[in-house]
Amino acid sequence: MKKIGILTSGGDAPGMNAAVRSVTRAAIESGHEVYGIYYGYKGLIDENIEKFDRFTVSEKLNRGGTFLRSARFPEFKNEEVRIEAVKILKKYGIEYLVVIGGDGSFMGAKKLNDLGVKCIGIPGTIDNDLNYTDFTLGFDTALNTIVEAIDKLRDTSASHQRCNIVEVMGRNCGDLSIHAAISVGAKHLITPETGFDKDDFLNELIERNKEGIKYSIVVITENIVDVTLLAKEIEEKTKIETRATILGHVQRGGAPTASDRMLGMRFGVRTVELINANIGGRCVGIDGDEIIDMDITDALEFSNRSKTDLIRIFEMTK
Ligand code: ADP
Ligand code: F6P
Repeated sequence: MKKIGILTSGGDAPGMNAAVRSVTRAAIESGHEVYGIYYGYKGLIDENIEKFDRFTVSEKLNRGGTFLRSARFPEFKNEEVRIEAVKILKKYGIEYLVVIGGDGSFMGAKKLNDLGVKCIGIPGTIDNDLNYTDFTLGFDTALNTIVEAIDKLRDTSASHQRCNIVEVMGRNCGDLSIHAAISVGAKHLITPETGFDKDDFLNELIERNKEGIKYSIVVITENIVDVTLLAKEIEEKTKIETRATILGHVQRGGAPTASDRMLGMRFGVRTVELINANIGGRCVGIDGDEIIDMDITDALEFSNRSKTDLIRIFEMTK
């Protein structure tokens, strides 16, 4: 019997609840004890810890967000704080820690692992910015939310023959934007991977307008440009009426898609299989349709996935 702690950290993502359910049920089934740690690494330091039974995770699978709550806790970057966390885990007899989150959370898990706590990472972030895995939990749900929103924007954009700029989350990763732009048939795509040349962009808008394309959807990743100012500049320089929409946190909410539920359930079972085999210091992921696991340090250093093919598909079909 092993004692397993589990927490969700960083931005919440639909599907996190599925992963928590999966780890909890599979671990109890394997004869282990599970301790839910609320509010991520902050809750660990605050000892916001509860022993779970199989019913604790009932009726959570279909819910968005994370019932374990989440937090950003920059203090965890300090080694003294992590040493305190190790003491707390020892006090509870928790030998394994399952961390569900993005690259920041994985960095915390890697450092805890270096201090002797056997950590396993489950990728949970809408950004899809962990390169070692094809998909992270939450990406599919967020993408579907974005597609639904842009389909609605298209109605009004077409009715008024306007340019509509849509800012999408992703931090420094263009995956949500690229997949969304292809899925909605956007006319323009601006991401960290495509780069942004404002003059080229404005010229393309003007040219397309002359060709008879009177309304257009522009999908842009956050943190590249102020979209409200960009909309004003487009109006001034091209005379095309333009509006900007920042989709914001609505992208993180909602019931997880079946695909995200499946991913969470599959990640959770592989996590428990690793624990059953006394293995820590790893993270789980998906490669094609195969669930994989990898050393957490190697995963964090994994080289960037090429987006060229998808960007080409966008360019050839826009
Ligand atoms: P995500 O996990 O989604 O990338 P963050 O980057 O906000 O989200 O990281 C979540 C949490 O992980 C941080 O608030 C902090 O507690 C922890 N963390 C992030 N970076 C580090 C680091 N370099 N060392 C230790 N802990 C970290
Ligand atoms: O990492 C998930 C994410 O939603 C990013 O896409 C976004 O940049 C960030 O979190 C927003 O963070 P917060 O919820 O702290 O505003």
